[in-house]
Parts: sequence; structure tokens; C-alpha cells
Amino acid sequence: MAQLSARQIALQALRLWRKEKRFADSIIAEFLANTELTPSDRAFALELFYGVLRNLTLLDFWIACLRASRVETGLHDILRLGLYQLFLLKTAQHAAVHETVELTPKRQRTIINAMLRVAARQATELLARVDAQPLFVRTSHPQFLVERWQQHFGVAHAQELCEWNNLPAPVYARINLLRIDRTKFLRAYPKSRPVSDNPNFVEVSSLPSDALERGHCYIQDPSTTLACQLLDPKPGERILDACAAPGGKTGYVAQLMENLGTIVACDRDLARLEILKENMARLGVGIVQILRHDWTHGCVPPKIASVAPFDCVLIDAPCTNTGVVRRRVDLKWRLRRTDFDRMQQRQIEIVRALIPLLQPKGALVYSTCSLEPEENEGVVRRILEETPILRLEAERDSLPFRDGLDGAFAAKLIRTA
Ligand SMILES: C[S@@+](CC[C@H](N)C(=O)[O-])C[C@H]1O[C@@H](n2cnc3c(N)ncnc32)[C@H](O)[C@@H]1O
Repeated sequence: MAQLSARQIALQALRLWRKEKRFADSIIAEFLANTELTPSDRAFALELFYGVLRNLTLLDFWIACLRASRVETGLHDILRLGLYQLFLLKTAQHAAVHETVELTPKRQRTIINAMLRVAARQATELLARVDAQPLFVRTSHPQFLVERWQQHFGVAHAQELCEWNNLPAPVYARINLLRIDRTKFLRAYPKSRPVSDNPNFVEVSSLPSDALERGHCYIQDPSTTLACQLLDPKPGERILDACAAPGGKTGYVAQLMENLGTIVACDRDLARLEILKENMARLGVGIVQILRHDWTHGCVPPKIASVAPFDCVLIDAPCTNTGVVRRRVDLKWRLRRTDFDRMQQRQIEIVRALIPLLQPKGALVYSTCSLEPEENEGVVRRILEETPILRLEAERDSLPFRDGLDGAFAAKLIRTA
């Protein structure tokens, strides 16, 4: 690939994202892997790409203000990039306009130049007009999502949530006590900042590659520990981590078990299981049996049945991920109204398949990183209604606007007989 500038990469990545509907992260990673940008240009390409994706509705609102008639699809992404620089990134006006015009095919430069110059002249007015727009425009979210959050959390919290989703996410790492203790870690990596309510977590400004390679830490949000703490696994126990890949919770569960006992880590996705395997090796986890299985297909494989019944089963279920929108920038554009009920069916199917593998008095923890009642309390309620041998022991959640962490939900069910 010819050497592209940061702006050209952002533009091409945006076009590909619109055309192919692939995950934004993988598209931009591919582009960056194939170019030799300086670190600051890489950061700029990422800022432009994710910045535009975060603010699509708002940028399109400004485009509509500037031109009543339809804008050609090819020009849309160019205008979005120009307006993002002008209004949100506060790039110097001349550079924002000039560099955006440079991205444009020659025959269309006049129109892009004219529109961006008008935008620059009317900046105060265009920015002020945003205040009168509904929340879904101001914060660029699908309208149905904002409306359901307003209904569930109230107007003020829905606004806080949407604003939170648009902020770049901090990077947190869990100190892996199987490899290093907290004091030594903080001494070895002095740039990491301890997280006040979670002593085994640190915040880092960039990926701590050395610490990761040595297995001294694992990148994860502190909210992910909620489920493991409810599970409360003990050294020597038999644990089934049913939807385990890439192993964030498996690693923490192994640490809580002091690397003693057995964890059977399953997932239906082979590629993700490969990553889990590498992660466990790096973290020094020595008690994991890794098995591929889809809980919605067929009977339990003999390798799992032979270890059952389990003291605890962790079901970190596939979900709509609405608690982690700030980390998956294009997620909000993929969601559909029907996803919540569809996911609930799948989640219930998975839980049903796992109940027989739990031993009497054993604990089943069901968790998601969704904020939606259908996928959280809704699943737990349905399971309790149809399974009299289970009782609810505890339910916990993490809400971004209340806890300042990613959204998460966990419920602990005990098998009584
Ligand atoms: C939320 S992720 C798990 C994250 C993991 N527990 C961690 O902490 O790193 C959900 C996982 O469920 C897996 N999954 C989805 N449907 C499944 C099914 N029917 N059977 C088994 N695994 C499934 C996905 O491949 C995905 O890896």
C-alpha cells in the first residue's frame, strides 16, 4: 500500500466501515498495520476515525444545516472528517479546511471548500443550534437506545450515560498476583496509578507491553471482577467457566483459587480459545482445561461430563455489550431494537444447558456487560420461574453514571437440591 497520511487513512477506514459493516477496531488496525506512520500520526488517524464514528449523528446534523439537498455518499465522509476537525477537535480553521479539501477528488473540491468555509464562518451559530437538539442528536446515539435508557434510568442518568459513552475509555490493568505482588508491581511499573476502590487494579496511560508480556497484569475493567467475586471460588474447587474466552475472568478466578483445583474453560469460538490459551500461559495459570463447546448445540461432551458436577459455574454470557459502548465505538450503530429479546433467548438457552452440571449447594453466577433488563434481571427471573431447584442469593451491577466504571451485571444462583 502506498504511504497514506493520517487523514487519508481515517477517510479510507470510514468508507470501508460503512461499506463492509465490519468491526471498526479491526478495520483501523489493518490500515495501521500496513502503513508506517509516526506515533503521533497514528494517534491522529485513530482520533479522526473514532472521533467521527462517535459523533456521526451530530456531524450529519451540521451537514444537513449546511446543505438542504442530499450530499453524495462519497462526500459525506469527507465532510464528516472536516466538520469533526473544525468543531470538535478544534483544529486550526485553515488546516481543517485545506487538508479536508486536499482529500477530495478534484471535480468536487469546490463544493467541499465552499461548505467548510461557510461552516467555519457560521461556527458560533452552528454550535449553538446543537443545544436545541434532542439528546440522541447531541450525543450521537440511536434514538431507540436513548429512549429505552431514559425509560429505564431516567432522563438525567440517560444523559450522563450517553455523555460517558463518548469519552475515551481509560485503560485499566489487573495486577496478576500469581506472578507478582502488588508492592513489587507498583515499584516495577511506577507509571501505573493504583485505582482507589480496587487495590489490585491500576490505571495506565498506554498499554504496558512489558508488564503484559511478563504476565504481570491483564487489561480489564474493574467492573469485570463483580462476577468473579460473587462466584467466590475456593482453592481446590472444580469450576466451569462456560463462556470463557479470551480468559479475563478465568485468569482472575484462577488467582482467587491460588492456582489450586480445576477450571474447565469452554467457549464455542476456536480463535478466541487460542487467545485464552496464550493468556493463561502468560499469566502462569496452571489449572485450566480448555475445551471447545457450544452450549446451544448437542449434548455435553464427555470431557466436560467427566469432570462434572461442578462446585461453581460461571456463565459470562454473550450479550449486547451496552455497558461498554465507550470501549467499542461502533457498537451503538450495530444495535437493533430486536437484539435485546433475541439475546435473552440465547442467554436462557445457555443457562438451561448448564444447570444440570452444577452440584447440589453449588453456585451458578450469570453475568453480562449489558445494561438492559431483558438480558440481566429478565434472564434471572425466567430461569428462577422455570427452575425450582435454584434460588437467588445475590444480584450486583455496575452502572457507569453511578460507579464510574463499565456497565456490568452479575447474579448468583444456588442449587438447593
Ligand atoms: C462476554 S464473552 C466472554 C468473556 C470472558 N468471560 C472474559 O472474561 O474474557 C462471551 C463469550 O461467549 C462465547 N459464546 C457465545 N455463545 C456461546 C455458546 N452458545 N456456547 C459457548 N460459548 C459461547 C463467545 O464466543 C464469547 O467468547
